Amino acid sequence: MQRKPLFRPILLALILCGLAPGARAAGEGVDLMQRSWPENGPLGTFDRAAVQRGFQVYKEVCHTCHSLNYLAFRNLAALGFSDQELQAIAAGYKVPALDDEGQPIEREAKPFDHMPAPYANPAQARAANGGGLPPDLSLIVKAREDGLDYVYSLLHGFGDPPAGHQVPEGLHYNRYFPGGNIAMPQPLTDGQVTYADGTNASLDQMAADVTQFLHFVAEPKLEERKLTGLKAGIFLVVFAGVMLAYKRKTWRDLH
Ligand code: HEC
Repeated sequence: MQRKPLFRPILLALILCGLAPGARAAGEGVDLMQRSWPENGPLGTFDRAAVQRGFQVYKEVCHTCHSLNYLAFRNLAALGFSDQELQAIAAGYKVPALDDEGQPIEREAKPFDHMPAPYANPAQARAANGGGLPPDLSLIVKAREDGLDYVYSLLHGFGDPPAGHQVPEGLHYNRYFPGGNIAMPQPLTDGQVTYADGTNASLDQMAADVTQFLHFVAEPKLEERKLTGLKAGIFLVVFAGVMLAYKRKTWRDLH
């Protein structure tokens, strides 16, 4: 009986934690598109095929403008790429290096290298993008509220502005971008890439896949972290049971 007053608030807190924030308004109060992401939830794991496809979309489309400074090629091993595949992927890029006499040269990237950025510096990136700076995408899904749904929605959000909405020269209308005017031109349209695994590359498919890839880059240890949390949870439940049994026995002995 005594347990109830404490038990109720704890139960309530647990229920509230479990109810993740639902649709959230972005920009001008527009509800984001939502999707159930396989890696979310207490036991969720990355859909490796989707993340690999997303890497292809990033490589072939987004990398023209956006860097991924935190990604080393070897990090992709977690997606199931073999050593040979990683070497081949890395070899597709050039990184700055020094020759034996200390002169700057370029060499083929190796799996331990980080993915080279498309522009040498922010000024060059702005100059090539009409003054807009394409942000590094390594942490973008963590940096934005409801980041997965946001990035996914943003890639769908291009189109004609509503009547009366002015789009300044050089910008593009996107209904999910705060303010509605974005310096990024629409990057994805149906059939933009030819997927290596034969999946139909609809805009929706590519948007979902590249979002999952960006989540993997931002949280490569997500699965390990969940497993640790699960183990700690099981331990706590067992431990609480033992303590309860012990308490009962102690009080029984006293009465
Ligand atoms: C032609 C260059 C270009 C390409 C290609 C491109 N982007 Fe962008 N992107 C930009 C620019 C420029 C901005 C900055 C927009 C601004 O601040 O107005 C941006 C901004 C973004 C943002 C941040 C939005 C925010 O809330 O600040 C995300 C996310 C994004 N791009 C994702 C992508 C993805 C994913 C791809 C590939 C499918 C991609 N971009 C392809 C130029 C590009």
